[in-house]
Amino acid sequence: MRTKIVAGNWKLNNNKEESKSLIKSLKKAIKNLPLENTRVIVAPTFVNLSSSVKAAKKSVIEVVAQNMHQAKNGAFTGEVSADMLKAIGVETVILGHSERRTYFNETDAALAEKVDAVLENGMETIFCFGELLEDRKSDNHFKVVESQLSNALFHLEAKDWGSIILAYEPVWAIGTGETASPEQAQEMHAFIRSIIEKKYTKEVADSVSILYGGSVKPANAEEIFSKPDVDGGLIGGAALKVEDFTGIINAI
Ligand code: G3P
Repeated sequence: MRTKIVAGNWKLNNNKEESKSLIKSLKKAIKNLPLENTRVIVAPTFVNLSSSVKAAKKSVIEVVAQNMHQAKNGAFTGEVSADMLKAIGVETVILGHSERRTYFNETDAALAEKVDAVLENGMETIFCFGELLEDRKSDNHFKVVESQLSNALFHLEAKDWGSIILAYEPVWAIGTGETASPEQAQEMHAFIRSIIEKKYTKEVADSVSILYGGSVKPANAEEIFSKPDVDGGLIGGAALKVEDFTGIINAI
């Protein structure tokens, strides 16, 4: 049985007090929910990780990072290493978000190095990927997704996949309100599982949690999450409001 996951990517939002307050409200809101096989994750910005880890103590809420550099240390101004994250209790990192690929030129090759650093440090990653609107319009979306996955992840061994969570985020659905239909999400997730099975084994393919991200809201979450190859969501805007994020968690 794959783990269900609802993760909130807070992006460049919430200062220290706002982060602590949102976590406190979320703790209260989900306290009595049946979350046996479900992980609830939030991703504050780097400067608020330590205080957010403390705020989430004694709850099921996991605090993760939105990014990480692949170097152990050195002349990389503005970056944060695996060691620094682990030292404050952060064991999971979002990598490859389309905003990092677009605004910070993160390439598949750089992401492969970041994934290796995550594994070398015994950490876990939520690895993001997804096509642009023009890729889908030109019917290249499967080719693009396969290339993103194989370039950054298919050098891994089967045993490494226990530390990988996938997040399919069609870029045209991020922040636009243009959510992929449940059928589109299922079709791509099933395709992703099929290429992992071809590269590795059915067991590896069936064990990987694949999240959908891109304008998930309380109103559409249940139908998307009901699809057999959708194991949860990576949520942006709706994660910033406790009632919306709780509504999405309720839908899993
Ligand atoms: O990482 C999740 C994010 O990109 C989705 O954003 O606002 O469309 O839910 P949003």
